[in-house]
Amino acid sequence: MVIVMTPQATAEDVEAIIALVGTAGGEAFVSRGVSRTIIGLVGDVAQFGALNLRGMRGVADVMRVSTPYKLVSRENHPDRTTITVGGVPIGPDTVTLIAGPCAVETPQQTLEAAEMARSAGATLLRGGAYKPRTSPYAFQGLGEAGLRILADVREATGLPIVTEVVDAHDVPLVAEYADMLQVGTRNAQNFALLQAVGAAGRPVLLKRGMNATIEEWLMAAEYIAQRGNLDIVLCERGIRTFETATRNTLDVSAVPVAQRLSHLPVIVDPSHSGGRRDLVLPLSRAAIAAGADGVIVDVHPHPEQALCDGPQALVDGDLRELARVMRQFPPLLGRTAA
Ligand code: E4P
Ligand code: PEP
Repeated sequence: MVIVMTPQATAEDVEAIIALVGTAGGEAFVSRGVSRTIIGLVGDVAQFGALNLRGMRGVADVMRVSTPYKLVSRENHPDRTTITVGGVPIGPDTVTLIAGPCAVETPQQTLEAAEMARSAGATLLRGGAYKPRTSPYAFQGLGEAGLRILADVREATGLPIVTEVVDAHDVPLVAEYADMLQVGTRNAQNFALLQAVGAAGRPVLLKRGMNATIEEWLMAAEYIAQRGNLDIVLCERGIRTFETATRNTLDVSAVPVAQRLSHLPVIVDPSHSGGRRDLVLPLSRAAIAAGADGVIVDVHPHPEQALCDGPQALVDGDLRELARVMRQFPPLLGRTAA
């Protein structure tokens, strides 16, 4: 059972609940977030039912949810959620295009990639200043200098920024620049990082761990939500399978499954899943047809010079085709491109 407190709830209100739960032999685990406090109850649910928890001061909601993830579950929240990032909606009525360079390399490259993204209809700019690389010798990103470039490009193009944070200590810094914080596949079960982004007061794009089941992915989202941040977008980005023809295997079925289990929006990353430019468009079409609430793609003005993931970056011609897909496909499904 989970209790969501109102933003106005006081420390005394929380203490009163802990005491009441104690009278029923239960234990209360309190998570104080930026905007609200969440209390998880462990013990006999039938005994808790006899307490008037809803009537307690400062209580906004009491959730009796059977799934292990509570706050992100659709069980108690039948309507699908729309998250807004810098004024751009991501949710059931729209198909949002997020595009940009895999890594921020130079001001010029980032600006050119952002212009390419915007011309394809993208409304959010992606770009990594902190890169999680397999090899310690590979380009690791420009760090704060990369964040400053992103902020300048946002200023120049008007596109809000989605950028990855790989270390819990960097969360406050990255949150200063980002409109949305990304947690990547390699960190999808880094619980300290999930808790830190949950407390950062910014929407979060949570990639699915490449080895994670859908339930593990939703439990990761629950870590963020438990810190009081429900502005979470889930991103399917391919999982590890026996197949070697693609970088990872895009699990298209994860889109409707996750949408049925959770009220959170679900988008797809066809670039990192396929790992190949020629697969990005077919996988984008598959994602949209499966009901994805958006796609996030890599673009690069000169992919042959890219410091990270050049083979999967879209170039100009592909972007015209992507723009056509974004104009034609969403309306067929009763949605608008956002
Ligand atoms: C994402 O952008 C990652 O940093 C990148 O895909 C990692 O790839 P690598 O295995 O080449 O380091
Ligand atoms: C990325 O989008 O830059 C990224 C690192 O992706 P993933 O975590 O899915 O590999």
